[in-house]
Amino acid sequence: MSLVTTTEMFKKAYDGGYAVGAFNVNNMEIVQGITEAAGELKSPVILQVSKGARAYANHTYLVKLVEAAVIENPEIPIALHLDHGDTFELCKSCIDGGFTSVMIDASSKSFEDNIALTKQVVEYAHANGVVVEAELGTLAGIEDEVVVEAGHESYTRPEEVEEFVDKTGCDSLAIAIGTSHGAYKFTPDQCTRNADGILVPPPLRFDVLEECIKRLPGFPIVLHGSSSVPQEFVKMVNEHGGQMPDAVGIPEEQLRQAAKLAVCKINIDSDIRLAMTGNIRKYFDEHPDHFDPRQYLKPARQAVKDMVAHKIKYVLGSDGKA
Ligand code: G3H
Ligand code: 13P
Ligand code: ZN
Repeated sequence: MSLVTTTEMFKKAYDGGYAVGAFNVNNMEIVQGITEAAGELKSPVILQVSKGARAYANHTYLVKLVEAAVIENPEIPIALHLDHGDTFELCKSCIDGGFTSVMIDASSKSFEDNIALTKQVVEYAHANGVVVEAELGTLAGIEDEVVVEAGHESYTRPEEVEEFVDKTGCDSLAIAIGTSHGAYKFTPDQCTRNADGILVPPPLRFDVLEECIKRLPGFPIVLHGSSSVPQEFVKMVNEHGGQMPDAVGIPEEQLRQAAKLAVCKINIDSDIRLAMTGNIRKYFDEHPDHFDPRQYLKPARQAVKDMVAHKIKYVLGSDGKA
């Protein structure tokens, strides 16, 4: 199988009550960990590349790594997606350079400007067989180089979604219902604490999601900022010299519930970072004399694989859906 768009993936996910995981890739070990898990579990998967990933690893290296993963995992559909494209030129460069899907994130612009830029990208993308994700509403946290502070995010306004999709022709829509980017999704004062002192975040706004679904029947919805920030990895980081106090994410049960509805794509990056960093810190602590990068990157890659397998089985529900 060669790289695919997300059209078929999303249709099956919508009808089947599951979501496809979109995992950020920045190097070979991450690509391998994700696709080995998806391959073994016969799950479709989206590999997504941010502007920052392109700046770090280079467009061609990332495309070639993903092409290698496609060759190694011929039985599963894999899409290559631009995450948070912020200009027409960046989207065009990825469309021309082998991506099968792009996101144009003009969510920080006015409604009219968001429509105009998204439409421009859709026209070019569709003429080249590529699909487009757009965004309405803003998430707290870091959207590539745009930092939205907690308290300045805004939920998607359901009354805007039909006009937006009609006028832009986008293929999927990211909405803001209370998820946010990074490992510190909520400040401690936005949360309560459970009996063990662990932060419990406010629930996602399922009322907003359901209103969007009502207005866009059959249309694939995307959730960004969907890492759960597993406390076992926060603990691992903190026990081995790291400092990540009060890191908190989105509870997995809520994501599972969203995946059963119209949410067809769930974005996860921070959990991969945490799993790798926790394991590398632990390895360094336990093997202060080792200096061969393969020695510590091997458990880091395995941790990515285990993390992605867990998401596929218990959060996304996409196992066996390839
Ligand atoms: O939503 C942002 C993703 O986690 C990508 O992050 O821009 O640091 O690569 P990045
Ligand atoms: P997290 O920071 O929650 O992993 O979100 C990633 C994301 O939305 C990438 O676009
Ligand atoms: Zn995002």
